Amino acid sequence: MNPLTANLPIAESFLIQQDWAAYTPDQHSVWAELVRRRMPQLEEHACEEYLQGFQQIGLREDSIPDLAEVNKRLGPRTGWNATPVSGFLPPDAFFEMLAARQFPTTTWLRKRESLEYTPEPDIFHDVFGHVPMHAHPVFADFLQQYGRVCAGLMHDKDKLERMGRLFWFTVEFGVIRQKGTIKLYGSGLISSHGESTNVINRTDEGGPEIRDFDLDAVLNQQFLVSEMQKVLYAVESFDQIYEAAREAEHRLA
Ligand SMILES: [Fe+2]
Repeated sequence: MNPLTANLPIAESFLIQQDWAAYTPDQHSVWAELVRRRMPQLEEHACEEYLQGFQQIGLREDSIPDLAEVNKRLGPRTGWNATPVSGFLPPDAFFEMLAARQFPTTTWLRKRESLEYTPEPDIFHDVFGHVPMHAHPVFADFLQQYGRVCAGLMHDKDKLERMGRLFWFTVEFGVIRQKGTIKLYGSGLISSHGESTNVINRTDEGGPEIRDFDLDAVLNQQFLVSEMQKVLYAVESFDQIYEAAREAEHRLA
């Protein structure tokens, strides 16, 4: 039995292999275009930990990542793996994987006609957007803790919805204050030029309001998936979201 799947009884049926050799030259060139579109803005506006993680896990501009190669670098750092899955997972399978430090990772790539947006996550959103942060030890611990807490709340829809907001305003749309400015770390920002530009170019009249991170506020903050974000929450350090995930466990237990 594959040791990576041995502890995933719920998610097991969603696990697939990535057939890296099957990607076409055109698909690799779509990946390259996506990376080239994002990097100039991210070099200036992504948080340091994201940019370091990108290097540490060996992502490249010119080819779609081979997840086995990514995991060879990521695993020894934090114990996380980018684990290929067939698509959207039901919540119990998703949380089971996070609690086991396995990040469910799609292997398909968007088409050239939809460079900016795909309704469902693809390998660009999942690997370019999410996985570099998993090389950071505190973020890595936070995400596992998040999965553990949610896995224990499967019986309570209302509490899970509140935890979903914590995910949204950190993992997907999180920002952090570094050296006096707002930097991006959430995957929904990192992987989207439009969402990032909306944050970077915000004014009093347009773009999201950025509030100080507060667990209670986040757990109660509604959001719309289909629109540009109107409110974001800035942390001062990643310790803050780790503590928030621990606190959420007491608060919602
Ligand atoms: Fe995501």
